[in-house]
Amino acid sequence: MEQSQFGEIVAPLLDWYNQNKRCLPWRADKEPYHIWVSEIMLQQTRVEAVIPYYERFMKRLPSILSLADCENEELFKLWEGLGYYSRARNLKKAAQEIRTRYQGVFPKNYDEILKLPGIGAYTAGAISSIAFGEPRAAVDGNVLRVITRLTQDCHDITDTKFRAEITQALERVYPQTGRGDFTQSLMELGAVACVPNGKPKCAECPLAFLCGAYQDSTQSQYPVKKKKTARKIEQKTVLLIKYQDKIAIGKREGKGVLSGMWELPNLDGELTKPQILQWLSEQQFDIKEIQKMKDTGKALKHIFTHIEWHMTCWIVTCESVANENGFTWVTTGQLEKEIALPTAFKKVYQKMQESFSEGAFS
Ligand code: ADE
Ligand code: SF4
Repeated sequence: MEQSQFGEIVAPLLDWYNQNKRCLPWRADKEPYHIWVSEIMLQQTRVEAVIPYYERFMKRLPSILSLADCENEELFKLWEGLGYYSRARNLKKAAQEIRTRYQGVFPKNYDEILKLPGIGAYTAGAISSIAFGEPRAAVDGNVLRVITRLTQDCHDITDTKFRAEITQALERVYPQTGRGDFTQSLMELGAVACVPNGKPKCAECPLAFLCGAYQDSTQSQYPVKKKKTARKIEQKTVLLIKYQDKIAIGKREGKGVLSGMWELPNLDGELTKPQILQWLSEQQFDIKEIQKMKDTGKALKHIFTHIEWHMTCWIVTCESVANENGFTWVTTGQLEKEIALPTAFKKVYQKMQESFSEGAFS
């Protein structure tokens, strides 16, 4: 099919959606706050994984104003494991803006919504159509997959001009009622029928009769995505510095990956034991013992969007707490319950705890 025929997908998709939509907590009402938070969470994580995060978030922060007042530490703890803490930071910033500029009431207009921190065309489209019934599309990866298969379109889906073109073509055919449903029906079809990796479930698809890729059996050729440039690999030496039941953590500074977040002490590069000892003495740690995590063959990896960390890990046991050296000592209980430790460090912490309890150090 062609983009000019998009009008033909509306009725079958809406029918299908009404009969097949999953029952999800953020679909219980049309509260913009609910739609907003769920859409931000869904940008980075699968629906099933988001549900418990969403429910815990809404229990603790049931309103825009409670989000605006939430301490970062608690907010990040609610976000821990979802990744991209800047998204949580922007949620709070936007909530504060809604309080000051809109008297705490979520703005109803697409252009106003788009101005809020952390909200781009996709999220503004989702909120304005689902919560406010505007004829706005929300074109994410799911929708682009559906559309490029329907139309057998070879454009690179990472191209923002192409996304904008698809968005406009869809907006021309928005129905008079059920606009939010139409937005969600496209996402839903991409999530449950027109799935990536492996075979889409075309037999269940209400659009198969219109679908070019289905008719020509070319589903696997779409969507076309420009190859990502290779991630930069950074070697890191990460230290779990212990004194009795306490562990030293620091705050990351400046810009760049995980800025402002808690971290385990770490150094650039794969350092030797003497280099680490040198650094520890400069930081005035009073150390008793240092052990490398037993060689597991490879360094521990953590993947960010553009960077990959390969981490080698050491356990350092101290004679006493170092004072005034800029690090914070927390108990393992605090670390697990109160501190939002980014996943990269959490992996190291867990690995080291496991290895430690197995005595697997050399
Ligand atoms: N993915 C992103 N937004 C979604 C939504 N509203 N429903 C289901 N999946 C989604
Ligand atoms: Fe996707 Fe298959 Fe439906 Fe075409 S027929 S839109 S490929 S699920």
